[in-house]
Amino acid sequence: MININNVSLNFGEKQIFEHLTWSITDKSRIGLVGDNGQGKTTLLRAIMGQVELGEGSIDIPNRKNQTMGYLPQDTVDLEPIDLIGYFKKRSGLTELEQAIRNHEQQLAGSSSDSSDHLQELAAYEAALAAFQAKDGYAFEARAKQMLKGFGFKEEDYVKKCTDFSGGWKMRLLLAFILLSQPDIMLLDEPTNHLDTESMEWLEAQLKDYQGTLIAISHDRFFLDKLIRQIAELAGRKLTIYKGNYSYYLKEKELRLEALRKEMELQRAEIKKINEFVERFRAKATKAKQVQSRLKMLDKYEVLQQGEKTRAVTIKFPPAVKSGRDVLVARDLGKSYGEQEVFRNLDFTVYRGERIALVGVNGAGKTTLTRLISKMESPTAGALQDGLNVKMAFYSQESAENLDYKKTIWEEISEVGTRSSDLERRNLLGAFLFSGNDIHKEVSVLSGGEKSRLALLKIMLQDANFLILDEPTNHLDIKTKDIFQHALLNYHGTLVIVSHDRYFLDCLVQRVIEIRQGRIYEYTGNYSYFVEKRRALSNVLPASGSDVAIDAGRKEAGGVTANKSIYKTKEEKRREAEVRNRLAGARGDLKQKVAVLEERVALLEGQRADKEKELCEPAACRVPGKIKALNQELIAISRKLNAFYDDWHALTEELEGFDVTIEQNNA
Ligand SMILES: Nc1ncnc2c1ncn2[C@@H]1O[C@H](COP(=O)(O)OP(=O)(O)OP(=O)(O)O)[C@@H](O)[C@H]1O
Ligand SMILES: [Mg+2]
Repeated sequence: MININNVSLNFGEKQIFEHLTWSITDKSRIGLVGDNGQGKTTLLRAIMGQVELGEGSIDIPNRKNQTMGYLPQDTVDLEPIDLIGYFKKRSGLTELEQAIRNHEQQLAGSSSDSSDHLQELAAYEAALAAFQAKDGYAFEARAKQMLKGFGFKEEDYVKKCTDFSGGWKMRLLLAFILLSQPDIMLLDEPTNHLDTESMEWLEAQLKDYQGTLIAISHDRFFLDKLIRQIAELAGRKLTIYKGNYSYYLKEKELRLEALRKEMELQRAEIKKINEFVERFRAKATKAKQVQSRLKMLDKYEVLQQGEKTRAVTIKFPPAVKSGRDVLVARDLGKSYGEQEVFRNLDFTVYRGERIALVGVNGAGKTTLTRLISKMESPTAGALQDGLNVKMAFYSQESAENLDYKKTIWEEISEVGTRSSDLERRNLLGAFLFSGNDIHKEVSVLSGGEKSRLALLKIMLQDANFLILDEPTNHLDIKTKDIFQHALLNYHGTLVIVSHDRYFLDCLVQRVIEIRQGRIYEYTGNYSYFVEKRRALSNVLPASGSDVAIDAGRKEAGGVTANKSIYKTKEEKRREAEVRNRLAGARGDLKQKVAVLEERVALLEGQRADKEKELCEPAACRVPGKIKALNQELIAISRKLNAFYDDWHALTEELEGFDVTIEQNNA
């Protein structure tokens, strides 16, 4: 049970919570939702006792015997010890193991009939029982299984916790929380750092979880699957919906509609009363009724619709145009020590392309973005930037995009840009930072606010080539839409890493997949990639051997496609159909050209005849003959010119067809 009693909270002048009251019963499964900056993270931290409340209290009865697991939204501090060691230490097993060893030594050194020995034996047995109660013997195996589910590899188990990137540290902590099965689990955007496979793993783990779960998420599918209650934070208030996310959306709309109707009725009622008061104010005989109606008005609690969040649009400022080839990778390879991430990558990024970079976690997407953005250097091959390419990079690690010690305004002022102060302030406003907000320190910003600020910095750089690594993590659904819209209208080139299918789908036209150290290309959107990938895994041998897929874009290179082997029957049928259709169309076109050529020949013959006639002396003797002949010649020339134009167009079309057919046969 968690009891939130009349909680209010302010940060400076800004009120975050206003009289929140909420009883969370055991085994509840709650999704905490709301726009960026509404106070979701603050509420979880308050439940953890990490925030000082302005008013009210949060009580957890029997707190001492309740275990709690909390996953913060970003940045966790871990110790420089290996993964399994860390897990053991945090679960108290290391201490127990040490105690057991001490007892064993003591027992070995004392004679078996002494009273000390008996005492020692009892303590030893108690320690053993505690160790067993914590499932100490099976712990390591379970820990490894859990880590594996989150994408860690065998060789990772001996690495130090501090050696992992921010995203992986979050996974580590998530794995630990799930492993320790606390009574209360508070997860702040747990899906942000997960790929599809790990997400499925997390969902399966949470499905089996028996305790109280509160999860913050902007992922409606995740919420729909796992949650039985939605708590929405908006405008300093909390509203509870007893259902999953889809129910919440429907119910919210219904409640809003009901409220609107009620407001209308109330307004009509108030208007009527006011009219009565106005009309009879001066009449002594009606004074009593007027008074009573005025009292009625006082009693009315005027209904109001919740504060509307501002609708904003954002636009990338125009940037200089880059050359046609934006980036050329040749024989590119990267290894960390003995561990090779990939090698022999060849690809070209062309101006104006919007490319998704996909692959399972650890495949090397982030590594590739770091090479492209020059954050790191390759260990083999080369990356060549095109002419006039101006790049901007959004790192998956928020701390790399922003200096947490600076204020919003300091961060923005630092960007080398053509924008004036006023333009910057306007942009800040569009990103929902206004007034005094801009002097806030980055460290106190909510997850979504940090992402917005980092994206704003990118926009100010006048770049024509954006490399974005998971830019939509932390963004609420509305902001995500706004950002997607801005990217759709962006004229530069874009390489984006994301697991968000809906975000990617209408955005990209080319997908590069990194798998087992190589790249595979798909000319299509994300759904096309998923479909193609699925079809391929059906025809591929189970070993998932290293086979490339039809890229359809030869000049992009990189793919040594052995097309014919891996085409499905349906694909072959469709291709044959296309070939036939092309051949048919080409036949028609050829026929048209032939007919035209015949007509041209005929007219050219007629023209020659008329010219001959014109030159004969007899023509001069017939009055008006020369004029008539000239007019006929002009008419023939006109017709011929038109035919020549048609002929040119048709032959060009025919040539185009021949190229297409050749490509299709290749
Ligand atoms: N210590 C602090 N000092 C001042 N303002 C703060 C502090 N902590 C949080 N805030 C502000 O309070 C608001 C709520 O922050 P919180 O992190 O709880 O939001 P959130 O709902 O979790 O948002 P998001 O979806 O972006 O994670 C934000 O506007 C944030 O900037
Ligand atoms: Mg948050």
